[in-house]
Amino acid sequence: MQSEPLYREKLTKVLKEKREAVERDPYRLSFHLMPPTGLLNDPNGFIYWRGEYHLFYQWMPFKTNHGAKCWGHYVTKDFIKWRHEKVALTPTEWFDQNGCYSGSAIIHEEKMYLFYTGNVKDTQGNRQTYQCLAISEDGIHFDKKGPVISLPEGYTAHFRDPKVWKHRDIFYMVVGAQKLDEKGTIALFESKDLLNWKYKGNVIKNENDFLNDFGYMFECPDLFQLNGHDLLIFCPQGLEPKGDFYHNTYQSGYVVGVMDYETGALEHDEFYELDRGFDFYAPQTTTDEQGRRIMFAWMGVPEQNEQNHPTISHDWLHNMTLPRELLYENNKLYQRPLQELVELRQPNVFEKQVHLQPEMFWKLLNETTKGTELLLDFLTLPEDWFQIDIAEAVRLIYSKEKQLFILERKSYVDGKFERRQCFLRNLTSLQIFIDTSAIEIFINEGEEVFSARFYSNMSAHHIHFSSSGSCSFSLQKWSLSSYHIDS
Ligand code: FRU
Repeated sequence: MQSEPLYREKLTKVLKEKREAVERDPYRLSFHLMPPTGLLNDPNGFIYWRGEYHLFYQWMPFKTNHGAKCWGHYVTKDFIKWRHEKVALTPTEWFDQNGCYSGSAIIHEEKMYLFYTGNVKDTQGNRQTYQCLAISEDGIHFDKKGPVISLPEGYTAHFRDPKVWKHRDIFYMVVGAQKLDEKGTIALFESKDLLNWKYKGNVIKNENDFLNDFGYMFECPDLFQLNGHDLLIFCPQGLEPKGDFYHNTYQSGYVVGVMDYETGALEHDEFYELDRGFDFYAPQTTTDEQGRRIMFAWMGVPEQNEQNHPTISHDWLHNMTLPRELLYENNKLYQRPLQELVELRQPNVFEKQVHLQPEMFWKLLNETTKGTELLLDFLTLPEDWFQIDIAEAVRLIYSKEKQLFILERKSYVDGKFERRQCFLRNLTSLQIFIDTSAIEIFINEGEEVFSARFYSNMSAHHIHFSSSGSCSFSLQKWSLSSYHIDS
């Protein structure tokens, strides 16, 4: 174990040595948050406080592998200009020496409280897990208080990622867990003061609940109210692919229901995947002054060809998704790009009514070099297929006949096109954000979303529209500016 001052010194050195090479990577993103060096994974401690949004993240600054993570720290007022703050939590105590793993933030009595998992492995590789607290008066410097919760009976040491919230003067915490029978679950705790916690059992109390047998581990839970409904987001591991579902290595999704805070039981309906693309995991939400429920996620999936990303040769790996606002309307969850992102749009919008016929295509030239946003509103769609090809590396296809929306991307493992798809009754609009090596597609105002990394040959920049029959849509296109990042 190393001391915190030594760790910080090593970090300063690595940033100095590697940053330039990292920034030279042509695949470096322009409006998605990335690690300055090394590997980024889960969003952590996302919170609005004193006019600023704090977004911490799982960070391995020294290499592009997982390991003993610290908490990196971004701050913003407007989601466009960001500050990369000094590292918030370092893995330098006996209770977190193998990683300050994921967790959350809450504001209490004018202080910021961070709850996180202290990951510890002994020399035989046995895991121990501690749910720890760190407190800050300024949101920048954190005072570690050590473990506040030890492992209750009935769970393995796969017990992590505390998410804390307040409901009617009482604090609650959900923790991602594995039961002794090696099934995933979610543990619930309550507290009056954020220091003393009482275990309340699993949120899944009904024995017949399908979530009792839904993979071997649930990571990164988040439980909150949206438009009168209780939503539980979590990441089950160990699901087999089923139809168009569960094709990534691990999943991220939600159930909607009613939380009984007396008994600590959640009654809920089916599990829905949050994102239908290739790269999405460990989402975390918070609310702000305007009452918006905002979500970030890691644009990657654990153990899913992580070491094949070409950015590794430039000493960095992974990024966050764009911030999305969650809305629950007409019994359905919608994810919309956060309103602030319109500020990325450069002044000149390109607008056109596009009419396609079979055997005819239409091309936007040199579009994807920097950031681009496309907005398409459909008037007529052909029965068979409509397709958008982006930079020879991504294809979006909608088949009205099959009611299918398809995303294909050129694999960064073997160069072949691979596919994700979802049922879509009707296609009315598409909002597409194209960054240098990341794409996010919001369908029908956020009814479905696909996120993916892609690596084009950097000389291919065109966007190409084609269709099997008569097709018309209005198109708006903006060039997007980059985030401003101070570090
Ligand atoms: C999810 C996860 C969490 C853990 C963290 C470690 O991606 O495995 O469960 O806290 O990453 O970086």
